[in-house]
Amino acid sequence: MKEQIKKIQQTNALAELEEIRIALLGKKGILTARFAELKTCNAEEKKTLAQELNTLKQEVEKNLAIQKEVLELKELESRLKAEKIDVSLFNTANTKGANHPVMLMLDRIVEYFLSMNFSLNMGPLVEDDFHNFEALNLPKYHPARDMQDTFYFNDGKLLRTHTSPVQIRTMQQQKPPIRMIAPGSVFRCDYDITHTPMFHQVEGLVVENGKDSISFANLKFILEDFLKFMFGDVKVRFRSSFFPFTEPSAEVDMSCIFCGGSGCRVCSHTGWLEVLGCGSVDVNVFNAVRYENVSGYAFGLGVERFAMLYYGVPDLRAFFESNLKVLEQFR
Ligand code: PHE
Repeated sequence: MKEQIKKIQQTNALAELEEIRIALLGKKGILTARFAELKTCNAEEKKTLAQELNTLKQEVEKNLAIQKEVLELKELESRLKAEKIDVSLFNTANTKGANHPVMLMLDRIVEYFLSMNFSLNMGPLVEDDFHNFEALNLPKYHPARDMQDTFYFNDGKLLRTHTSPVQIRTMQQQKPPIRMIAPGSVFRCDYDITHTPMFHQVEGLVVENGKDSISFANLKFILEDFLKFMFGDVKVRFRSSFFPFTEPSAEVDMSCIFCGGSGCRVCSHTGWLEVLGCGSVDVNVFNAVRYENVSGYAFGLGVERFAMLYYGVPDLRAFFESNLKVLEQFR
């Protein structure tokens, strides 16, 4: 019987163990046969044999139970090994989908202003004359309306030509202080290497109570800091300009990120790149929304222009042609 016990302890599979169990304790098993011997014994022999057989049987059963547990554990282990998922393994590259470079750029711009505690505002794409022009100090027949080639609907509504109407809507809905940006698409009837009929702008507006609370210096600081966040260590200059809704107005240039300011094809050999329009909010704009005794600044930028410079894309139209060979590079 010692040998049988050894066999039990050496089995490698549950099926094998079951075979041994049947061979010992099954109907025709060795031990079962020995128990049958009891019938032919006399009373004295019976007692000792029965005792012996019962201990044997207990021994066998104990070993079977132990080995069964061992084998079950082993089986579980090997199954876990075979079926486990290695989460540290690299997945094959996801070949579908990527963010559009213009949206990547927009995300980065928004990230800066959110970090500066600006809130995010939206406005409708179909605007009325009041919000897109009139309230922005652009009365009917004002020559500055020609700066923006407007798409009109028959009912006098229009596709907004800039994000500036969101300034008006925000001021109509809220009291100062205001500190907001408004990203979104804008539309102009124009199409060439640097113009598309739809593009994206980000508008910025800050208004505080008090006529002298916000100065041009505040505007200069935020835009310089913003451009350094976007493009690294660039020089920034403010060039006097005109917008009907700001006074004074300026256009903002940064030193050319391609030649470092020495002059190249991208900056038309000037060393400077024009990137923003801005100014102190004109009182006529405040009057249109019935704001009194306030001061503020506003700015606007073209997201595609930023993306062209940031990613070194020479033709604006590349952003709108849905050419996967181009867009896949931004994954
Ligand atoms: N709305 C102007 C444009 O589209 C940009 C701008 C916004 C300029 C705010 C000054 C202040 O050109």
